[in-house]
Amino acid sequence: MKFPHDFLFGAASASYQIEGAWNEDGKGVTNWDVFSKIPGKTYNQTNGDVAIDHYHRFQEDIRLMAEMGLESYRFSISWARILPTGDGEINEKGIEFYNRVIDECLQYGIVPFVTLYHWDLPVTLEEDGGWTNKRTAEAFVKYAEICFHAFGDRVKHWITFNETVMFCGLGYVKGAHPPGIQNDVPRYFQATHYVFYAHAKTVQLYKQLKQYGEIGITHVFLPAYSVDDQPSNKLAERHANEYETFWFYDPVLKGEYPSYVIEQLKEKGWMPNWTSEELEMIKQNAEKNDFIGLNYYQPIRVERYDKDIRNEKHSRETSTLAPGNPSFDGFYRTVRMEDKTYTKWGWEISPKGFLDGLHMLKERYGNIKMYVTENGLGDEDPIIDGEIVDVPRIKYIEEHLKAVKRAIQEGIHLKGYYAWSVIDLLSWLNGYKKQYGFIFVDHNDNLKRKKKLSFHWYKHIIETRGEEL
Ligand code: NOJ
Repeated sequence: MKFPHDFLFGAASASYQIEGAWNEDGKGVTNWDVFSKIPGKTYNQTNGDVAIDHYHRFQEDIRLMAEMGLESYRFSISWARILPTGDGEINEKGIEFYNRVIDECLQYGIVPFVTLYHWDLPVTLEEDGGWTNKRTAEAFVKYAEICFHAFGDRVKHWITFNETVMFCGLGYVKGAHPPGIQNDVPRYFQATHYVFYAHAKTVQLYKQLKQYGEIGITHVFLPAYSVDDQPSNKLAERHANEYETFWFYDPVLKGEYPSYVIEQLKEKGWMPNWTSEELEMIKQNAEKNDFIGLNYYQPIRVERYDKDIRNEKHSRETSTLAPGNPSFDGFYRTVRMEDKTYTKWGWEISPKGFLDGLHMLKERYGNIKMYVTENGLGDEDPIIDGEIVDVPRIKYIEEHLKAVKRAIQEGIHLKGYYAWSVIDLLSWLNGYKKQYGFIFVDHNDNLKRKKKLSFHWYKHIIETRGEEL
């Protein structure tokens, strides 16, 4: 079977991870511009001041994407380029830059798929409480409106937010992303609520503007498996799915929060503050979402975790990959299983986890349209005789594309696949050590671009519409 003719083969990036030019042409300062410069926050003190200099090299990069046969390019807009202080004056140079990026894509017939928020927040808003302050949510809607007016004639696919659990969880629970706060669970839930409110209001606005495109939200998808059939571990699985997945898709698709989580938040005194007007906004706009985006890298294996009961069978805890993981609650923990395969960064490789997870979503939300907005392998790529032979990446993407094909055959409404990432870029915390791209960037030779083996492989997959998979 070939993939359907309207299925989009794409690849993705995000502004802070590629653009650089952090203070050029009127761009405002973002939370990441500040956070990454605090000693010890990132690997080897890397930051996005230059990143891979896409701001100055976007033409070359998009030309390479066209050469690869990419049908669609997912990228994000940096809010602070458009509104340097978050909600004040518009910076025309910022609009101009994204106009050029969009037009460059269209010139090659590449469909632009735009994320409005991929974690770089104007620092003025961060300093004023960031996502725990409703002001940020209202400012986001205004920013989105400016983008719709400026780019909506040519951009027909919009993602409001990328991975709410990550920027809120790492920001307010783990402290690894800005604003770097640890263990403030009530603020974590408050921030997620304002994100859902901002999303709903933006969807409403988009529909009112009648731009005849589509809009949705992207979440990192971490479907949970219990380590075994013990009832207590099965409960841990439910708990993980409720907190990691349903908390994020229920308000968006059903217009309400999962009652399982709400009950527990009430008990703990962790309920966000919200008004009936905000809840109404979330409720009324749920049905207007056109799709949901899934960033899938791995499932999680979970077990009941009680400080007083040690389960020796699975004693090795994985790195804390699920930042919303309420292990602060002592309820469950993620474990590494002997019989599974992991990447160098300890992420389980499981295309089957994706397929199972897709069915779980279909069961809960019906047959909503979905895009895989990210999927890929973070690796330190092998170089042999000057060639980047990223065979493990090819294998990883191949296996996941097979799962996508199978899902389509099983009736899941999947309309596109975006590999992460189109080009090697800055990892938030791992610098340039962790590579994901089809294109290599030489940091020892003036950021020269070089095609990897996977570049040619993906080109072939697109040309043949995945027939051989
Ligand atoms: C998810 C994020 O959206 C992206 O920015 C990040 O680099 C990748 N996952 C890999 O961790």
